[in-house]
Amino acid sequence: MIDLEVVPGFTLGRYPSSMAHRNRLGSARQLVQPGYSQVMIDLCARLGLQAPLIQAPMAGAQDHRLAVAVCENGGLGSLPAAMLSPDALAAELSALSQATSRAFNVNFFCHAPPVPDEAVEAAWRQLLAPYYAELGMDIPALPSSPARVPFNHDLADVLEGFRPAVVSFHFGLPAPDLLARVKSWGSLVLSSATTVAEAQWLQAHGADAVIAQGLEAGGHRGMFLSDNLDHQSGTFALLPQVVRAVQLPVIAAGGIACGQGATAATTLGAAGVQMGSAYLCSHEATTSALHRSQLLSSAERQTAVTNLFTGRPARGLVNRVMRELGPLHSAAPAFPLATAAIAPLRAAAEALGRTDFTPLWAGQNLSKIRAASAGEITQDILRHWHRVPA
Ligand SMILES: Cc1cc2nc3c(=O)[nH]c(=O)nc-3n(C[C@H](O)[C@H](O)[C@H](O)COP(=O)(O)O)c2cc1C
Repeated sequence: MIDLEVVPGFTLGRYPSSMAHRNRLGSARQLVQPGYSQVMIDLCARLGLQAPLIQAPMAGAQDHRLAVAVCENGGLGSLPAAMLSPDALAAELSALSQATSRAFNVNFFCHAPPVPDEAVEAAWRQLLAPYYAELGMDIPALPSSPARVPFNHDLADVLEGFRPAVVSFHFGLPAPDLLARVKSWGSLVLSSATTVAEAQWLQAHGADAVIAQGLEAGGHRGMFLSDNLDHQSGTFALLPQVVRAVQLPVIAAGGIACGQGATAATTLGAAGVQMGSAYLCSHEATTSALHRSQLLSSAERQTAVTNLFTGRPARGLVNRVMRELGPLHSAAPAFPLATAAIAPLRAAAEALGRTDFTPLWAGQNLSKIRAASAGEITQDILRHWHRVPA
């Protein structure tokens, strides 16, 4: 046991000590394991965590309930806000902060919104036309407004009322004025890097910690400096290189499914881990029944990186449209515009009980995925994350 008051040098602590979150015992004692590096101890102490475990924010697959369950069991719960309006964000943050007094993370996308291109839209609809015909549907004439909006001042206005301990970003960082606002509240700023160059860019532009997202990861690739998938590497190839290249704490993400995986990541220098797929079938996730049944299927579950559902590369279970068009197609409009024309197909097929057009986001390592409460999953991870060599 380590007394928080004697933990030396909070390297993450450019924040008033009054902001340090109390750990789950509500005391000033931290359940840090022997062998934890100083940076892990700092992260736990700063956020009042039992272990440096971040539940990955998963837009479309969860709301505040999953975050609460993880927070209440010693990890850092995350609220994905990429698909929330300011009003919806306010409602989710109210529910989250009423249900837990622990530290939590709120996550945003920060992509540059694309300008719709009529020719690209027409070609995309043309490619999908046979599927519309098969389902007896008319092709929508105009794209509906995009469901994923980058972090902006309206969202920041809402966030300011809650001042979360951690704010994380996907696809880089927001504009300097927005980032400065978030940092002025004392929030710890995290963002995903999929290459060493992205990690260095994040360090140079104000991130407090970097999430090294390996190619195994479920959901969208956080890539933002290059769209070349050939340059993406697996977690255990990327992680040690990022650890060497930056002075910031590095969180490992992608293919980490259990405490033993977390142990391996921290042995390679990670200050913590971020796990998403492990929670997709938790009781508290909002993952649909169709998605859950595919994730838990006894058949071989193949994943691939696809741009068909949103326009950006993201990893999910291979389904019919990915097989028939190929997971990556040059006709898909820029993120997030591809969604508008494929979403009606998804809805119609799902009504028939089919996942032909459903984005079944999932990482490569589904070996430990199970239906259980998020509290049980978290405790299980923490129980098996104890063998870090001193
Ligand atoms: C269903 C799903 C949705 C995701 N949505 C987000 C998101 O909204 N924001 C984000 O930063 N990362 C998102 N991710 C990526 C995770 O942050 C993380 O990189 C990934 O889950 C780690 O790999 P794993 O799934 O193998 O644990 C998502 C992942 C999944 C599986």
